[in-house]
Amino acid sequence: MPRPRVLTVCNQKGGVGKTTTAINLGAALAERDLKVLLVDCDPQANATSGLGISSKNLPASIYDVVVLGQPLAEVTVPLNHIPGMTLVPSTVGLAGAELELAELPLRESRLRLALDGLADYDYVLLDTPPSLGLLTVNCLVAADSMMIPLQCEYYALEGLALLTHTQALVRQSLNPALRLAGIVLTLFDPRTVLSSQVVAEVRRQFGEQAFSTVIPRSVRVSEAPSHGLPITQYDPTGRGAIAYRALAEELLMRDSLVAA
Ligand SMILES: Nc1ncnc2c1ncn2[C@@H]1O[C@H](COP(=O)(O)OP(=O)(O)OP(=O)(O)O)[C@@H](O)[C@H]1O
Ligand SMILES: [Mg+2]
Repeated sequence: MPRPRVLTVCNQKGGVGKTTTAINLGAALAERDLKVLLVDCDPQANATSGLGISSKNLPASIYDVVVLGQPLAEVTVPLNHIPGMTLVPSTVGLAGAELELAELPLRESRLRLALDGLADYDYVLLDTPPSLGLLTVNCLVAADSMMIPLQCEYYALEGLALLTHTQALVRQSLNPALRLAGIVLTLFDPRTVLSSQVVAEVRRQFGEQAFSTVIPRSVRVSEAPSHGLPITQYDPTGRGAIAYRALAEELLMRDSLVAA
């Protein structure tokens, strides 16, 4: 099996749908018989709990991998309720990693090294915290591409320049191959004029870099993590599941173009 594609879901703004996208895009890819590893790189551990895994009493987590150098394959948690998907969990203890990493050799490349040689997966998805600290930098250094969720709200584009600047710095130094997978608009509410204005503005500024698929705001999407389920299982025929399947389709199209 060739090396997996590594995609990080990034935006230092909080609450824009990073974790929701990592979980549901991952599940939509897994539905298509792709092997997906979701790595929770956020001390909030929302991807971990949202997939029904309690971060208490875990024998090991991503902390042990990036700080202590434990092999990634030893800390994976199979998700028996989501065929094809596997998790590397996080815990609040990861919060300390930002400081600890600063003292360690190869502090920006530790996740990349941990992913080296991993061959059992088609996609590795990295969920990041809402910051541009060393954990996020490790994700950018480890990734082939970055997906940026933008919430359909007034301040959506604020901070985007800083994120793309960080991407440029990483490209100049540790990961010249880092691409933009695309911008995905999230939490779209068709009843508000503002939502449509944000979509229009992002399309005007970013054109093809924005995915055609827009993720709608849906109560079902926000409920799914409390059941430990992706939307593709919690409400398989609803708008949220349809949107995340369409996003997976678009991503696969774009990635196959890159490979060609
Ligand atoms: N399409 C959606 N419809 C309704 N609610 C959503 C949708 N996407 C995300 N949410 C809700 O919005 C909140 C923020 O989403 P999420 O946790 O995915 O964002 P995040 O960017 O990962 O946040 P953080 O920066 O804190 O990690 C959550 O309560 C989530 O359930
Ligand atoms: Mg999150």
